[in-house]
Amino acid sequence: MAVAILARLGYRVTAVTGRVEEHGDYLRGLGAADVIHREEFADPGKPMQKARWAGAVDSVGSTPLANVLAQTSNEGVVAACGLAAGTDLPTSVVPFILRGVTLRGVNSVTQPLAVRERVWHRLSTDLPLDLLDQMTETIGLNDVFSQAEKILAGEVRGRTAVRVTERKVG
Ligand SMILES: NC(=O)c1ccc[n+]([C@@H]2O[C@H](COP(=O)([O-])OP(=O)(O)OC[C@H]3O[C@@H](n4cnc5c(N)ncnc54)[C@H](OP(=O)(O)O)[C@@H]3O)[C@@H](O)[C@H]2O)c1
Repeated sequence: MAVAILARLGYRVTAVTGRVEEHGDYLRGLGAADVIHREEFADPGKPMQKARWAGAVDSVGSTPLANVLAQTSNEGVVAACGLAAGTDLPTSVVPFILRGVTLRGVNSVTQPLAVRERVWHRLSTDLPLDLLDQMTETIGLNDVFSQAEKILAGEVRGRTAVRVTERKVG
């Protein structure tokens, strides 16, 4: 969703994935100008590296986030919203004090209604809805456990919506 929104807003977006061959065309279809492998961010690096990004949305944390911070240019902002790679953050103050980088946490769980309404409004204008349809798979309640196993096995992409009103009995 971040790829689609940022591309719609006019940014040049680089998408990072561990499945470049499988998902490259899909991510370019969402608006990514470049698609790179997440291996590039997997190993611990220097606290300040060549500046590559004006900003970033990170859903994995840990060493990949530390590398993104080290590659963020002056006054850039990085949003941290997930921990798929780990809860640690092996970084230093260097990107913050030498480049003025901002690390912004995102918590979608306990936001007040007023904030949610603002965000939903922004989503209605900034997220291309045809792409949202394309990245969404809808399942019934009975399929939740098997879908969760697929998600954990890295076999699902995009988002899964659960239709809670239809439950097969038996
Ligand atoms: N802040 C909040 O309020 C909030 C709310 C909901 C969820 N979250 C968090 O947001 C994150 C993303 O949610 P999600 O449902 O999209 O999670 P997910 O399906 O577990 O992971 C998202 C993607 O991260 C990549 N990934 C997985 N393991 C990785 C690793 N070890 N190193 C680097 N990349 C890895 C995979 O992408 P590729 O296969 O393409 O590489 C995967 O598709 C999760 O950590 C979740 O807990 C936060």
